[in-house]
Amino acid sequence: SDIEKGTYAHYMLKEMDEQPSVVRKIIQAYELDGELAIDEEILTAINAADRLYIIAAGTSYHSGLVGKAYFEKMAQIPVEVHISSEFGYNMPLLSEKPLFIFLSQSGETADSRQVLVKVKEMGYPALTITNVQGSTLSREADYTLLLHAGPEIAVASTKAYVAQLAVLAVAAYVAGKARGNAIDFDLKQELAIAATAISAIIDSKEEMEQIAEDYLKIARNAFFIGRNLDFCVSLEGALKLKEISYIQAEGFAGGELKHGTIALIEEGTPVFALVTQEQVALNIRGNVKEVVARGANACIIASEGLEEEGDRLVLPHVHPLLTPLVSVVPLQLISYYAALHRRCDVDKPRNLAKSVTVE
Ligand code: G6P
Repeated sequence: SDIEKGTYAHYMLKEMDEQPSVVRKIIQAYELDGELAIDEEILTAINAADRLYIIAAGTSYHSGLVGKAYFEKMAQIPVEVHISSEFGYNMPLLSEKPLFIFLSQSGETADSRQVLVKVKEMGYPALTITNVQGSTLSREADYTLLLHAGPEIAVASTKAYVAQLAVLAVAAYVAGKARGNAIDFDLKQELAIAATAISAIIDSKEEMEQIAEDYLKIARNAFFIGRNLDFCVSLEGALKLKEISYIQAEGFAGGELKHGTIALIEEGTPVFALVTQEQVALNIRGNVKEVVARGANACIIASEGLEEEGDRLVLPHVHPLLTPLVSVVPLQLISYYAALHRRCDVDKPRNLAKSVTVE
């Protein structure tokens, strides 16, 4: 069944492997007469809003950051992304017609629920994007979009993150199309290409195992840098590594590193740099040079077409908006193998719970 490990050593490995099929499942689940579609009511709610407020925690917060770019670029709706535990007690000034979007794999995160209760009291509409039909956040919101990722058992979220990105992309794309925005690509096709790209990465796992060995075997800390969408993925890459290998890690905007944090770079400090965004490729490579000059051990992960000699990993080309679905996968695998090398309990890391039902 879906919730058995089968021959897999860990749920996390199984769930990473499922990512291409999860993306394909989402394409099917959100297809109507050959086109991507979402429920009419939800589409109306999105397009009636003057601003979207994405509320989430942990990995879901990181997918929310990418979701902001999707809605702003494709649907041209302004978006704010908030950590649920902060939003509840420190509410920003709201727009006139907000729509709240609760992103939550489990649909049970207490910090997020607390915000949902508050915004419902205030009379605002809410949409929950979750993996669990019938979960608290789904029942209490006006609308639900499902992730269709299947049960996620490993504490560290992998396939739900990719599913969230795919569903956010679908919702933003459909909303943008309905608004008559100029969107010059076929998302359905591009998601299918991304699924194939993820498969190719998963098929070359040994490379990620080797990277974990080369860069993280004795590391005390690590940095993940990127610009633009790559920055969002850097945050998630760092979180994965912290959660399961207990290596202190930070995700940083490439350009911000020099304003303080570069002081932490020493001889041999691992720095993972993502290069998937053409318009900032040169800038992030500049940031890599800065850290290498201070002794960093840089691991450059670049998209096909942007690669240069000396890059450690080249990712298959996908649509520039969809690179996060693909670039996160090697980072998940690198974290997994780093944790294995350290004999950590990959599926049940210390101090963590799959869903946190206390505020
Ligand atoms: C917990 C988990 C994280 C997860 C976060 C939000 O802290 O350990 O992996 O990202 O909750 O969970 P949710 O179910 O709301 O996405």
